[in-house]
Amino acid sequence: MEKNPILRAVDAVRNPYSPGAGTRPPALVGRDGEIEAMDIALQRLLAGRYGRSLMLTGLRGVGKTVLLNEFEQLAEARGYFHEHIEVSEDGELPARLAAAFRRVLLSMDARRRIGERVRRALGVLKAFSVRLPDGPEIGIDIDAVLGSADSGDLSMDLAGLFVELGEVARDNETGVLITIDELHYVSLHTLEALVMGLHRASQLGLPITISGAGLPTLATLTGEAKSYAERMFNYPVIDSLAGDQPREALVVPASDEGVTWADDAVALVVEVSKGYPYFLQEFGKQAWDLAGGPVITLDDVERSVPLATAQLDDGFFRVRIGRTNDAERAYLRAMAEVGPGPVRSAEVAQLLGKSATSLGPTRDTLLKKSLCYAPRWGEIDFTVPLFDQFMKRWIPDLATLRGN
Ligand SMILES: Nc1ncnc2c1ncn2[C@@H]1O[C@H](COP(=O)(O)OP(=O)(O)O)[C@@H](O)[C@H]1O
Ligand SMILES: [Mg+2]
Repeated sequence: MEKNPILRAVDAVRNPYSPGAGTRPPALVGRDGEIEAMDIALQRLLAGRYGRSLMLTGLRGVGKTVLLNEFEQLAEARGYFHEHIEVSEDGELPARLAAAFRRVLLSMDARRRIGERVRRALGVLKAFSVRLPDGPEIGIDIDAVLGSADSGDLSMDLAGLFVELGEVARDNETGVLITIDELHYVSLHTLEALVMGLHRASQLGLPITISGAGLPTLATLTGEAKSYAERMFNYPVIDSLAGDQPREALVVPASDEGVTWADDAVALVVEVSKGYPYFLQEFGKQAWDLAGGPVITLDDVERSVPLATAQLDDGFFRVRIGRTNDAERAYLRAMAEVGPGPVRSAEVAQLLGKSATSLGPTRDTLLKKSLCYAPRWGEIDFTVPLFDQFMKRWIPDLATLRGN
């Protein structure tokens, strides 16, 4: 029996698009360079050579988490043990790292029966973690092994841990990759300790590394840590898709399902999304669900834009604004008035009829909450793409906010 052609063409169940944090896109477009660089680094490290891992920076929704997940898959395929950490706003790292190390050691032991050597490493980890304020109690039946990672100096202790784990990995012909997401929340001090700790293991040619991702606010390192970090990592900026890539991100997943896009329909999605991966997925998804046949038309897209926009407003954008007060919102709205960004802080102050000094604390909070970043001295920009447009939709009239 002939199936209903409309259902066959635009079945919502088969909608391939995937808006969401860290959700693997149906076509991972435009990231071949990063993937290849990471794969090379992983192979070099495994061979006892110097390998440069990647630190990804970029705005929200460009695909950093997706790439980190991809790196874990590469590591898996190369026989690595890997763990993922997501830092939250509290910026806490050492305890999360200790927990990840513990999981690595336990799974190494479970899979390879390393026994004594793993027990020792867990003992070192225990000595490290009991020193942490709210450190996890590592394997209660294991005695702490003192002297390698319990000096109280974070960079020395992390060095001890990286070396310990790196040796276990090397002796068992495997490697370790820890991916750290939202790394911008970590303080400068902790970040430097992380880099310097890892540097020790890298000097020894041990097969252990980290790969991180964060907003452009990812703290700029200083001094010694900076020079190490420059040699240990590459820092690709992950950005919107350009050239033919956004088109590919839309068209390839559809054609896999026997659905095509009209050229003008694709062009409109690329235009409204500005090529940002998250937006491409959201606009693609809504257009698919509204399409009436096996070809997604300009009319389908035009009708879906308000829906997709509302969806983004209620999800992607509004969660960012959740914990801001009136003064912060007024600042953000004024930024949007001045321009799509980056904008000069002085101009924002002028528009709000206040001095730059009196607005200093508000500006600092927005930076600290990672809603904004300062691309250059005296300038400020949103960490969320197209946030200016959202602010204008959300608070149409700036005048309602003056006086805050
Ligand atoms: N290279 C890409 N091509 C197409 N879509 C992508 C790509 N990378 C990510 N996406 C989509 O973008 C959205 C955001 O990805 P995510 O990794 O969470 O971004 P970030 O971590 O930078 O905020 C997800 O819906 C994902 O499917
Ligand atoms: Mg992310």
